[in-house]
Amino acid sequence: MVGYGHIVALNDSESSPVHTAGLELQQGIAGIFGKDCNVSHGKWRGASSTDSVAVVGTVGQFQSSGGDIKQLPQLEEDGFWLEVNSSATYILGQNERGALYGAFEYLSMLAQGNMTQVSYASNPDAPIRWINQWDNLQAGGTHGSVERGYGGPSIFFANGSVKDDLSRAAQYARLLASIKVNAVVVNNVNANESMLTDPIMDGLGRIADVFRPYGVQLGMSLYFASPLALGDLETFDPLNASVIEWWHNKTDDIYRRIPDFAGYLVKANSEGQPGPLTYNRTLADGANLFAKAIQPHGGVVMFRAFVYDSTNLNESHWREDRANAAVDFFDGLDGKFDDNVIIQIKYGPIDFQVREPTSPLFAHLQQTNSAIELQISQEYLGQQCHLVYLPPLWKTVLDFDLRVDHQPSLVRNIISGDRFKRPLGGYAGVANVGTNQTWLGSHLAMSNLYTFGRLAWDPTTDPVSMLLDWTRLTFGLDPSVLQTIVDMSMESWPNYENYTGNLGIQTLTDILYGHYGPNPASQDDNPWGQWTRADADTIGMDRTIENGTRNAGQYPSEVASMYDNIDTTPDNLLLWFHHVPYTQRLKSGTTVIQHFYDAHYNGSARAQTYAPRWQALEGKIDEQRFNEQLFRLVYQAGHSLVWRDAINNFYFNKSQIPDEAGRVENHPYRIEAESMELDGYELYAVSPFHVASNKTCIVTSSNSTQGTASTTLSVDSGKYDLAVNYYDMAIGRSQWELYLNDNMVGQWIGDSDLTLGHAPSNYIDGHSATRITFKSVQVEKGDMLRIVGKPDGIEPAPIDYVSVLPEGVVD
Ligand code: GCU
Repeated sequence: MVGYGHIVALNDSESSPVHTAGLELQQGIAGIFGKDCNVSHGKWRGASSTDSVAVVGTVGQFQSSGGDIKQLPQLEEDGFWLEVNSSATYILGQNERGALYGAFEYLSMLAQGNMTQVSYASNPDAPIRWINQWDNLQAGGTHGSVERGYGGPSIFFANGSVKDDLSRAAQYARLLASIKVNAVVVNNVNANESMLTDPIMDGLGRIADVFRPYGVQLGMSLYFASPLALGDLETFDPLNASVIEWWHNKTDDIYRRIPDFAGYLVKANSEGQPGPLTYNRTLADGANLFAKAIQPHGGVVMFRAFVYDSTNLNESHWREDRANAAVDFFDGLDGKFDDNVIIQIKYGPIDFQVREPTSPLFAHLQQTNSAIELQISQEYLGQQCHLVYLPPLWKTVLDFDLRVDHQPSLVRNIISGDRFKRPLGGYAGVANVGTNQTWLGSHLAMSNLYTFGRLAWDPTTDPVSMLLDWTRLTFGLDPSVLQTIVDMSMESWPNYENYTGNLGIQTLTDILYGHYGPNPASQDDNPWGQWTRADADTIGMDRTIENGTRNAGQYPSEVASMYDNIDTTPDNLLLWFHHVPYTQRLKSGTTVIQHFYDAHYNGSARAQTYAPRWQALEGKIDEQRFNEQLFRLVYQAGHSLVWRDAINNFYFNKSQIPDEAGRVENHPYRIEAESMELDGYELYAVSPFHVASNKTCIVTSSNSTQGTASTTLSVDSGKYDLAVNYYDMAIGRSQWELYLNDNMVGQWIGDSDLTLGHAPSNYIDGHSATRITFKSVQVEKGDMLRIVGKPDGIEPAPIDYVSVLPEGVVD
């Protein structure tokens, strides 16, 4: 099989995916086996050669070259046939893209050491397997270059234009083709009308040109009010004849430049984006406007279901509920959308939280195409600074049975089109990669991008087996590397849930700023509708039918009655559907509040194990990736403690119910900075209070002079880990030095905006709170511990506390 010396790619046009497949096979085989194969592009002259051969092309190209494969099964669009026998390899796509997918799949086998003979067909579960990039044309504004992107600036745009150098965009297309993704929407859903100006459309044409050899099509997010915003018309009413004509003309302009343009993505009437409701038109009127313009060209419209009112919801109204919005807004519209419209639905009813029930909208659209929107970028899930492997979360939704009409109705079978016999449907993954060498900002986070592609092709694939494949392809075949990465990744999402938001209360991050660190108070008392309704005695959203927001009633009856009844609601969604006392007993036997405390201690304790487990792989992973990932895992360990204490302090403070295990607000190993002797430092009341130990930290009294905090240690002489909790704001590079007597233990700089690759916060808060630990330091009883902090501009070298930890203790 590997003995062949010759690769035949059945197309000689350089922009064709089959041509690319030939080169990829050549390059891949050289990389894996160190063997040079020659590749010829064009026609195959049959298997008469004495040399064994690999042939890649479409079924049609193969047959017209006189090739014959017996028992070739029916291939669907983008599908392929892979046959590896003792003398030849046949990789035959239904189309050119399928052939390239087959070539990558074959290389993936070889790279994992799988040399078996195979012959099988592989077909996609769904035709839509798209990536969404939330890239802006320029870096200004609240969200920088890529909204919710944690891997550096855009690979497509800079300074309001399409970049000249698109080599990175080409590499992205290559990467995506290898995981069978077939289109990328290149700009932010919060779109800008400038996308439709001639220079940008010309630039998009250049991006499409570099995508094309990889079979990746280009899509674009639209700003609904573009005809008005560009000054061409005085309206953007979707039923107005001039507006309709305007969009037809623009669409023609795009297709002139990009004949294989994939389609539009539309965020309308949501979070400040205009839409058809502005003119009292329906969402279907809005979607069909674009559908009709694009239909003659064969394109599609991905119309987002993320429509809700973020300004008028009122928490004091018990029955109001953002989770109802999608079904309410799409009520009565099923069947009213054109056949080339696909409703793109976030997996849960709110917004990419650590745990949500399946969006009920999937059950309501039966005569309308639908797709699921998953977020690869970890916006609410640690922003690539925490390891969170997402497929186990995604599977809770994809495998969920909505029991429509009492029939099996798994979400994955709805979006594939099978359940309701729809022609289109599938997957949109919000990836938000950037120019960072790692793409997503973290080496291990890339498993989420890889597995998105795998699941979109076959959603029944097991999260462990995909992860094993990814790990082998990324880090090689060493069994201990495989085991460690798989174990850590598989426990990472449940762990993250443990030390963030439990029992369906949502992530509990700061939803008003950053979406990163803890701030449970930010959920309530605002119109964003991510409420917890936590008070002194009770917590949770009552979404029951009789007494609550009736959201449970949006599900088909079997599911509705499960969620409507507290006894049949699973613990992990209890607070999503029910408002209960903190003393409510869970099925596990413990109370809600004790579960919070325990989960936070257990989850953060588990997070402490990641770095040592990774460290055990030293020498088995190249130094750069080893060190970069180690840095993140150490950081995560510290930040998980920030999360643990913030959430536990907050709910203890609210409920006044003590932790049965006596841990919450009891930290015998800590020395609060505010209790140390201060010179040039002063006390600062942190807001929110629960992100500082004892509510207070210290900051330098002036912006330019250093401060000192000192204390005499009374611990017995011995070896200790010295942990310093401090705040690393994004706006300066403060410096700290830690001394025992006159000996420096260590020094560090507040530069996590560089090292983490994104700036969590400009303030002293739960985003910037972090920890540095000096391991195994010899301390003598009576030693003077001293921290010297040098401010940098308005970053005042803040310190929260120091923990003097005997070996094996973490606090
Ligand atoms: C979230 C996210 C926004 C994004 C929005 C959307 O709310 O924070 O940045 O624009 O989702 O999906 O449209």
